[in-house]
Amino acid sequence: MKGGGAYISIGSSTSGINSMGSGSGSGSGSKMTLGKSVKMYLTIFIATTCIYMVLYQYHMSREPFAPSEVGKPPLYIITPTYRRPEQLAELTRLGYTLKHVANLLWLVIEDANKTNPLVAHTLDRIGVPYEYMVAPMPEKYKQTKKAKPRGVSNRNRGLEYLRQHATEGVLYFADDDNTYDISIFEQMRYISKVGMWPVGLVTKTGVSSPIIRNGKLDGYYDGWIGGRKYPVDMAGFAVNIKFLRQRPHAQMPFKPGYEEDGFLRSLAPLDNDEIDLLADECRDILTWHTQTKKNPPAQALNKTRYSNTNLVHIDKLLVRP
Ligand code: UGA
Ligand code: MN
Repeated sequence: MKGGGAYISIGSSTSGINSMGSGSGSGSGSKMTLGKSVKMYLTIFIATTCIYMVLYQYHMSREPFAPSEVGKPPLYIITPTYRRPEQLAELTRLGYTLKHVANLLWLVIEDANKTNPLVAHTLDRIGVPYEYMVAPMPEKYKQTKKAKPRGVSNRNRGLEYLRQHATEGVLYFADDDNTYDISIFEQMRYISKVGMWPVGLVTKTGVSSPIIRNGKLDGYYDGWIGGRKYPVDMAGFAVNIKFLRQRPHAQMPFKPGYEEDGFLRSLAPLDNDEIDLLADECRDILTWHTQTKKNPPAQALNKTRYSNTNLVHIDKLLVRP
């Protein structure tokens, strides 16, 4: 795991008292000397204790999370990403949101054949514990003129990672361009199987949400139902890891528009009353399906005109498709 020093506990540094040796009063037996050396050891002991306490206070004040927070069920956030001018901006915004959340591992998975040092550098700087992996979209989908299954190979790679490395906690698919209120992360930690909640800014209905009637899940509200059993947005559900591991074949289909539905169906058997309803029983909106305006690729820098300027350095930070 890279990044983030959130879980480093204070080292059991031995106090100076042991390393001081027994310098004075070497067995003379005199009352004076004995009293003196006891006083000296006491002083050293108190001084060391004080220094230790001050250091500990300082250390704790630098810790982003209280020990009680670190003990909570872990969260695994799977974020698909891909190379484009907006990429580092998206990851920066999402990363600093995640930085408010304790006991979290961010699985950043790029639709690419190799990792990009600029992405790794951005993740390092943010300081959220992360794994950065690649999972390219299969060539046949890349070539198609029709809608592409965006982020699917990335998410399936994330599921594979979790099957190898995670035993408990909760998994959430967080696209790199969406907007998340951090309280949803605290709520999703305690999902027993699958949890769902509303997502703002989805299609013509303005929101995609489970419909709750008399306290029970009673269908879905979404601008496009499309024959789906689970017409929900990617940002609107999370899954318990133990439950996922009991479904070894669960994965996301390469089927544009049906990624969420296909994945949730692959978690069968799952009864509607086993779905936890978050965000105040789906009366609140804590996640939004936002979209960033696409930017044209930056033009090439005139290296003759701008040689020996900062622009040469900046140019290396631009993500060009
Ligand atoms: C919506 C859904 O929220 C996605 O989860 C779903 O995969 C997508 O539609 C779909 O049905 O194809 P949308 O906002 O339209 O998402 O798509 P993007 O934000 O462009 O992509 C979703 C995720 O996949 C993002 O995290 C993005 O970084 C990643 N992505 C996108 C790739 O990894 N490769 C791509 O070529 C495009
Ligand atoms: Mn998106």
